[in-house]
Amino acid sequence: MAPSPSRTATGVRVRVPAKINLALKVGAPRADGYHPLATVYQAVSVYDEVHAAWAGPDEFDVVVSGEGADQVPLDDSNLAVRAAKLLARTHGPNESLGASLSIKKSIPVAGGLAGGSANGAAALLACAVLWDLDVTADGMRALAAELGSDVPFALLGGTAVGSGRGEDVAPALAQGTYHWVLAFGFHGLSTAAVYRRFDELSPNAPPPEVPAGLMNALRSGDPKLLARALSNDLEPAALDLQPRLRTVLQTGLEYGALGALVSGSGPTCAFLVGDESAAVDLSVSLSAEGVCRAVRRATGPVIGARVVN
Ligand code: C5P
Repeated sequence: MAPSPSRTATGVRVRVPAKINLALKVGAPRADGYHPLATVYQAVSVYDEVHAAWAGPDEFDVVVSGEGADQVPLDDSNLAVRAAKLLARTHGPNESLGASLSIKKSIPVAGGLAGGSANGAAALLACAVLWDLDVTADGMRALAAELGSDVPFALLGGTAVGSGRGEDVAPALAQGTYHWVLAFGFHGLSTAAVYRRFDELSPNAPPPEVPAGLMNALRSGDPKLLARALSNDLEPAALDLQPRLRTVLQTGLEYGALGALVSGSGPTCAFLVGDESAAVDLSVSLSAEGVCRAVRRATGPVIGARVVN
């Protein structure tokens, strides 16, 4: 297949956001080992970038730079590589395709912010545009779901309800822009390990349901209401595996956060504040206390994966 002339020289660059879970309700494991979820995702303004350029037939390679780059695998387990290969195999022409991928990371690795999933989603989009493939939105969603539970949301962005194992996403009615302060942990947490701990701590977890109070708060656009409705069933497991996260959450609340929770499987802690200046104040205080590795301000919701060149 001939490369699309307008994209050949420079390749295609996609920007993709991190996510936090405003609510994460988790049920008992299914027969396939995954947990049924009822979650509300919000995409926030911390972005990775994935650049895709043409490579020879069946050639796939990846380089990674930025936040936590040394912890990202460069082999076929890299989610961006898996995404490119999956797309080529399922939607490519008869001739083999190849891609040279470059990932610029700002989303911490193993941080509960779906950074790996974001890279998978971005690679899907970048390669579909690079190779000029005819893939429907439903086709992209199906590939994304095959890659990982959080990948379809990284394509969609905004604020969305997730069900199934998280891969079944639908936009949520939400008003306003929310201001977040994110405290990155000193060490990552394995999502699978946090779920295993959850099973030990909650052997009889009921079927999960999205909390009505959270949906009402999102419709109101009032951060104080949203702060009261934040919840995460994985938080006790994450705190059990990294007890120092309790101090991080407490410190943020003492310095004026409206609400605080562990994001997804952690260890990133997310603090909701009322406005930009409160976010600046809280970031300064959290940094000064030295309770976490780094602090970032972010707003949400933001759009999902998008081509930026
Ligand atoms: O789907 P993904 O590959 O992102 O999930 C990573 C790991 O998190 C899975 O291997 C599984 O251990 C756990 N998980 C789960 N239930 C979910 C989502 C993820 O148990 N709904």
